[in-house]
Amino acid sequence: MPSLTVVTTVAELRALLDEKRRRGEAVGLVPTMGALHEGHLSLVHAGCAECATVVVSVYVNPTQFAPNEDFQRYPRNLDYDLQLLKSVAPKSANSVIVFAPTDAEMYPTGFQTTVDVTKLSQHWEGEIRPTHFRGVATVVLKLFTAAEADFAYFGQKDFQQLRVVEQMARDLNLRTVIRPCPTLREPDGLAMSSRNRYLTPEERTRGLALSRGLEIVREMTKRGETNCAELEAALRDVLAAAGLQPDYAVVVDRVTLQQITKLDRPAVAMVAAQVGKTRLIDNTLLDAKQNIV
Ligand code: PAJ
Repeated sequence: MPSLTVVTTVAELRALLDEKRRRGEAVGLVPTMGALHEGHLSLVHAGCAECATVVVSVYVNPTQFAPNEDFQRYPRNLDYDLQLLKSVAPKSANSVIVFAPTDAEMYPTGFQTTVDVTKLSQHWEGEIRPTHFRGVATVVLKLFTAAEADFAYFGQKDFQQLRVVEQMARDLNLRTVIRPCPTLREPDGLAMSSRNRYLTPEERTRGLALSRGLEIVREMTKRGETNCAELEAALRDVLAAAGLQPDYAVVVDRVTLQQITKLDRPAVAMVAAQVGKTRLIDNTLLDAKQNIV
């Protein structure tokens, strides 16, 4: 089992990592808000496969939540997260460092600098959650500068977040290379998420409409459908049948996240819907040759 160390300050993290880097070891970073599940662990595995040391940050970042959102009730249980990391960590020589800072460590009194990835943050999640990506980009940049990681692992589950982070890294010449990782799903197709635990059994069943709708879109594109309006309509139909009104159900360009009318380039179908009190998001990659990647 790899070693597991917990640190709470940037200074401690840097001291540990400086030592690793002196030995020439690669450092990976997996930013999380805790409430870990298999999806998060898949990012840790990806990190362990190419980096001797993997930093897993566990921090429920207040600045990415709006006042009406679930910041207060977001599940927090560091002991459970540590147990999970210990029990499933690969049998290798990797060191896993958990960075679990306090709010005062991340946002000391007087904090006033933020990062805006303007265009990519405008639509979709950004329309519903106007300050969300500012909070994400700011905290992710802080985590990047604290860890100075060679690689950082992000889930495609949060596709817009992934694109925002990739764009920030490019625009700001960050050294950290972003590694996108595939979405892990429950056996019935529901994308794993820390928020799934909010769902009642009935809501969970209805929530399956997101992944089912995306699956239908994939099948349509495999059969040669390239009209995005048709794909979006099919996705909406599946959601409507489950009584869900999506915040958005769209086919967009995979790089710009702008809506497209014809599937003639790498794209992604993205969907978000409120299921009871819980907001679920999901997506699937689509490629231009009617083959799904
Ligand atoms: P969180 O929701 O905890 O997710 C942490 C990472 O796990 C993200 O990169 C997310 O895309 C990935 N992830 C979540 N569910 C996944 C799944 N089913 N399969 C694969 N990867 C999955 O995203 C955040 O935290 C925060 O916004 C953060 C980036 C940590 C900044 O605060």
